[in-house]
Amino acid sequence: MELEVLEGLLNKAYRIEVAFEDEALFKAFIDVVDAEQKDVIFRLMTDSERHKKVLEKIAQDLNLKLEKPEKILIQSQRIFNEIYKLELDAKYIYEGIVEKFAAHLKEHAETLRHLAKEEEMHAKMVEKFVDKTLRII
Ligand SMILES: [Fe+2]
Repeated sequence: MELEVLEGLLNKAYRIEVAFEDEALFKAFIDVVDAEQKDVIFRLMTDSERHKKVLEKIAQDLNLKLEKPEKILIQSQRIFNEIYKLELDAKYIYEGIVEKFAAHLKEHAETLRHLAKEEEMHAKMVEKFVDKTLRII
């Protein structure tokens, strides 16, 4: 029962990580000319790929299943606003999972704590671009 709840929550985190594969984000990466914004988007794409792999490994170790998630649609006109929210949501989910399921996670609790810190850092990187509408469509 507890493990099923953990599985559900890991799937929710996975869904957010997968959202960073979104075409809108990749299009923003290609279209944006501001070098700092480009760097930030590249960093987010890279880290979310890594986070996906981490979640896959944890799920495998704990014998839990990650499903191919439903897409979260990122609105390209307000891309940094959307990303900012997703980063914070990921941070809260990782923190919540660690708090409630540390006993099941064992050594993976530390890994997820680290992911939560990275999401917080991502949110900080993106924060200054929030509310600046990008014209990328
Ligand atoms: Fe992430």
